Amino acid sequence: MELKELQRLLGEMSLEEKVGQMVQIPANMLTEGGLITGPTDSIEMTQEKVSLVGALLGKTGAKELRDIQEEFVKNHPHHIPLLLMYDIINGMDTIFPIPLAMGCTFSPELVEKSAEVAAKEATAAGLHVTFSPMLDLVRDARWGRVMESTGEDPWLNSELGKAMVRGYQGSSKAAGEPLDLKKEGNIAGCIKHFAGYGLPEGGREYENVEISERTFREDYLPAYKAAAEEGCAMVMTSFNTLDRIPSTGNKWLMREVLRKEMGFDGVLISDYSAIDEMITHGIAQDSREAAKLAIMAGVDIDMVSNAYVKYLADLVCQGEVEERLIDEAVMRILKLKNDLGLFENPYKDGSEEKEKELFCCKEHRQLARKIAAASFVLLKNEQMLPLKKEATEKVAFIGPYAENVEIHGSWSFPKNPESAITIKAGAEQKKTGMTFVQGCLVLDEDQCDRYGGKQSYGEGAKDLMLAEAVMAAKNADKVVLCLGEHRNQSGEGGSRVNIRLPENQMILLREIQKVNANIVTVVFSARPLELKEVTEISKAVMLVWMPGTEGGNAIADVLFGDSMPQGRLSMSMPRSVGQVPIYYNRFSTGRPNGSGTAVGFIHGYIDESTKPLYPFGYGLSYTEFEYSKVELDKTEMCVNGTLTAKVNVKNIGALPGTETVQLYLQDVKGSVVRPVKMLRGFEKVTLQPGESGEVRFEIKESMLKFYDINMDYVSEPGLFRVFIGQDSDTENMAEFWLKK
Ligand code: GLC
Repeated sequence: MELKELQRLLGEMSLEEKVGQMVQIPANMLTEGGLITGPTDSIEMTQEKVSLVGALLGKTGAKELRDIQEEFVKNHPHHIPLLLMYDIINGMDTIFPIPLAMGCTFSPELVEKSAEVAAKEATAAGLHVTFSPMLDLVRDARWGRVMESTGEDPWLNSELGKAMVRGYQGSSKAAGEPLDLKKEGNIAGCIKHFAGYGLPEGGREYENVEISERTFREDYLPAYKAAAEEGCAMVMTSFNTLDRIPSTGNKWLMREVLRKEMGFDGVLISDYSAIDEMITHGIAQDSREAAKLAIMAGVDIDMVSNAYVKYLADLVCQGEVEERLIDEAVMRILKLKNDLGLFENPYKDGSEEKEKELFCCKEHRQLARKIAAASFVLLKNEQMLPLKKEATEKVAFIGPYAENVEIHGSWSFPKNPESAITIKAGAEQKKTGMTFVQGCLVLDEDQCDRYGGKQSYGEGAKDLMLAEAVMAAKNADKVVLCLGEHRNQSGEGGSRVNIRLPENQMILLREIQKVNANIVTVVFSARPLELKEVTEISKAVMLVWMPGTEGGNAIADVLFGDSMPQGRLSMSMPRSVGQVPIYYNRFSTGRPNGSGTAVGFIHGYIDESTKPLYPFGYGLSYTEFEYSKVELDKTEMCVNGTLTAKVNVKNIGALPGTETVQLYLQDVKGSVVRPVKMLRGFEKVTLQPGESGEVRFEIKESMLKFYDINMDYVSEPGLFRVFIGQDSDTENMAEFWLKK
């Protein structure tokens, strides 16, 4: 449709019909079933109001969505199609690793490909919008939704967020490419949760966020901004308060920062019931006032609350809200539907044949297997890995994840979860004659009844399972212990104060060690866990996160050396939950570690190190890499100038390997304190044994900018340090001066 036709349509709509476009309902209000991702008990809508809504949430399936859409468009007074939206954050039916694991790939290319596949499968299933990328920066492993983020760093999150937008939408606005959501296989993305949701106090879900504007802009805003500049079609408000104002009613955040500063002119949707929740937040007397706060803040669509559908028209009729605001919102919604081509084809790419062809197809599985292998982080390896394929090495796989299909994250809803490949299924492709024993259940019996995670042993079964596992360990040369969090111990509402493995699994580990010290521990988790004891007992430890559909094959590929471990931590691993939040781009303080004269007057703790167990960017390979000193092409840079930094990296081991060479900068002195290190680039290089490669980074003045003492976004002259190495602990450094 041409713009003028949209304007004509808008002009023909009654106020009730316009408000209807601004309402999203859960699928179960229109049909049977559907994914419920929030409270639905308070929604009251007449059938007439339901027939006017603009968007549907939580249903997939080409046939079902076609039937819903056909009926809906037929009955709508202007035959305006529904926007069909769903949470596809790491794959639709072919499930990729959780986003936190995708962060560990340090590969925008792989992330973009996974988003492209997710979009193809989702649009084949009849969907128009996915509620992804989630770009909340997270430094707190206690928060359950850490799994949905790509980690603790603004630069990495920005690069991967842009990649997801390109993958979903098929174009890059920053590169001047036109948006083409009509094109088959492209889906509208939705940046979430705007903004700052990843820093709830105490890691407690939905908790208040206390943050300075400077830290918000330096650390938490960049990734949302980068994805908006890449052209992401939608943004979702966050549940949390920012400066004690819930985002969904935060006019400064939405109209000033998002729309004016960031130039976002797409559709802004609230999170689930977040408009009405301003009542319980305590800044709205009732749903009517909540509706007013939200529309004044510029929220276009009300996701599953009573506010807009019940009170928006009345607010306009009473002169409390200008109809202009309604028209602007509805025009953005109509434009998005038009960009998706829904007026010409309300079903977009929905096709049962396509579903059958694409869901978990060979090509998609191969990509999922490749990405999963690239996301695993090898934390420790004392000559244990890779495993031998020869029968001479007897291997026992023990643990509740040795043969477990629940290896996709808590925000994954594959049509057939049984399609996941277990470790057993993957390992048996590599070698026969191995033992597989469960040893214990994932959860302790008193744990986590959340979403049906509770498990219980049969009479006497617990001791029997343990005894069987110990026997298997006794008869093996090496044990691969397959342990992990339950998938329902993370995700929304999945905050934990205890971020250790379930105790029954730790008992299993300790009992196994008594009879066999050659332990490789594979850890499934959706957050950085407290793994100090696990890494002390095990001779090798590999983090596999929640690896998705092809997890078992990918794990076997890496364990047996058919793929090389290459993942690098996208989040610091704490020694203790008491250290959390812990992250690499922190500040020196006035008494950094090692300074301080008298005992007691030092930065840090008296009972724990301030260092993580493993730092951001860390990960081992099956080989060793040697770095040359950092070389700069000049030691002075002028404003608007650039400077080239380079290193030579050599594979000095006996096996091929892929290294993620990381560039960090430090602004030694600023008008406000500056982080001790800031990631400003990374490049993956694959080198054969003995092979060398040169890696260059171009350093631009824009990389040095920050919010100065006056909150101006500038660079300041002075001394800078350039670090290039294998993780954020690198000391391989050179210096230059920025001259103004
Ligand atoms: C949930 C989540 C959000 C999700 C939405 C729709 O409450 O906060 O991430 O996209 O509801 O399911």
